[in-house]
Amino acid sequence: MRKKIVAGNWKMNLTLEEGLSLSKAIAEFAKTNPLDKLNGSPKVIMFTPFIHLVSVTESTKGINQLETGAQNCYIEEKGAFTGEISAKMIQSAGVKNVLVGHSERRAYFGETNEVLAKKVEIALANNINPMYCCGEVLDERNAGNHFNVVKEQLEKGLFWLSEEEFAKVVIAYEPVWAIGTGVTASPEQAQEMHAYIRSLVKDKYNENIAENTTILYGGSCNAKNASELFANPDVDGGLIGGASLKAEDFGAIIQAY
Ligand code: PGA
Repeated sequence: MRKKIVAGNWKMNLTLEEGLSLSKAIAEFAKTNPLDKLNGSPKVIMFTPFIHLVSVTESTKGINQLETGAQNCYIEEKGAFTGEISAKMIQSAGVKNVLVGHSERRAYFGETNEVLAKKVEIALANNINPMYCCGEVLDERNAGNHFNVVKEQLEKGLFWLSEEEFAKVVIAYEPVWAIGTGVTASPEQAQEMHAYIRSLVKDKYNENIAENTTILYGGSCNAKNASELFANPDVDGGLIGGASLKAEDFGAIIQAY
């Protein structure tokens, strides 16, 4: 059975104090509402800014199914790369996950599928689970090219992995036109793309691996629309931006299965 996941992507938001107060509220929520007892038994991941990660990870200790993640990592193990953070450093802080290929990294920092493949590789080599993001921009959807775009992102970024490696990856489908815009993909649009992604995994690997791959939806997912998105058979949860910054909203999404 594939794991359901609700992940919060804080992006470049919240001071350390604000971040800690949010993570404490979420930890409190998970203590009062044990995640493994909730509908869907979701794992919850907070992808925080690097500077928050150690403290936030500390606040999740001993809480079942509550984890942290970094929003990025560098492609090299160590060395003279001023300002970068390695997968090994992330791992050494007790962090289990890393976002790879968020559309903002692709758009603003020029990260290509080839670079992202290296990030996936170094994350796995350091025992960190990559959450690999894919998704088309509006022009690509309007041109009917969205399936091809996502296919190429997956083929180049992920489909060179062994079965064993691929099993550690979570996929997040985030149509770029839905991110931070308040325009959500309809449940039908989300389901259609998720089913397509699962079919690609099946063709590349096998049915068993495809059935066990967690595929999250991201893009203006919130407390109001999460239930109808998560109700789709191939939507296993969400990667949440704006709505992950308020404990109450995020808590409601965690309970949306
Ligand atoms: P959003 O962001 O929920 O604010 O649209 C999602 C994301 O970028 O991961």
